[in-house]
Amino acid sequence: MKNKLEKKIIIKVTDLFKSFNNNVVLKNINFQLLEGESLAIIGESGSGKSVLLKNIIGLLLPDKGSIEINNVEMVNLPRNLKEKILLDLGITFQHGALFDSLKIWENIIFKVANKEKMNVKQGKQLALSIIKQLGLQPDILDLYPSEISGGMQKRVAIARAICGNPKILLFDEPTSGLDPVTGSLIDKLIKTAVRTVGGSAITITHDMASVCRIADKVLLIDKQTISWSGTPEEMFKSANPKIQEFIKPINSEIFFK
Ligand SMILES: Nc1ncnc2c1ncn2[C@@H]1O[C@H](COP(=O)(O)OP(=O)(O)OP(=O)(O)O)[C@@H](O)[C@H]1O
Ligand SMILES: [Mg+2]
Repeated sequence: MKNKLEKKIIIKVTDLFKSFNNNVVLKNINFQLLEGESLAIIGESGSGKSVLLKNIIGLLLPDKGSIEINNVEMVNLPRNLKEKILLDLGITFQHGALFDSLKIWENIIFKVANKEKMNVKQGKQLALSIIKQLGLQPDILDLYPSEISGGMQKRVAIARAICGNPKILLFDEPTSGLDPVTGSLIDKLIKTAVRTVGGSAITITHDMASVCRIADKVLLIDKQTISWSGTPEEMFKSANPKIQEFIKPINSEIFFK
């Protein structure tokens, strides 16, 4: 399936609804992620950003609607087929979720090692090549997640997501809680992953500096639905009152230099 500009549609969400009992979280969600595109999703805390991501990866089941990844309908897909598709995705969760009982290097190569055989030396080498890009030191490779700081755990989770160069990347708040230097390092990595591997990314973020650095397109979730979308440049010109609230504290000239 291709869109007007002949770009392949990687993820297509159509008429998605999700409630928890009487709490309507998402309604009538429609959007596409195209090949080579970097999408940022913004919205107030509690607006349903993480719920949307969890629906896309099948951790939550929508009440209604369709989610296609590379033209395969994910909703109600048998578990073994769903897992096969998810193996090709690089995902980070908002709250870390490293395997406590595995060393850092084992965490990082986990998915790749499930697909191809490698010995300890090769595994550590692969993990090392990735953590270097994230500004982490080699001596953490043999530690366990509980032995490194929260910000380091966050970077290890990103290393695990990008290991094996997956073509689809889904990040939930990858830079929150990190210092600005590390945050901008991670933004560069996301951008590089999209540009050089020909991948596509969805990044949920509160960080408007990140949005300007990484996004081709921004989606705003407000009042349970996508109430605005556009480029970062359009965002700074938008009169939409909710968008205004997000950009008010920011001097856009800093980011578009
Ligand atoms: N498993 C669940 N069961 C019941 N309600 C849930 C569940 N997961 C999320 N919710 C509710 O869905 C709403 C949206 O939550 P979500 O985590 O998607 O917000 P968010 O936009 O990611 O917020 P934040 O920016 O704080 O991460 C909240 O009201 C939350 O309480
Ligand atoms: Mg969230």
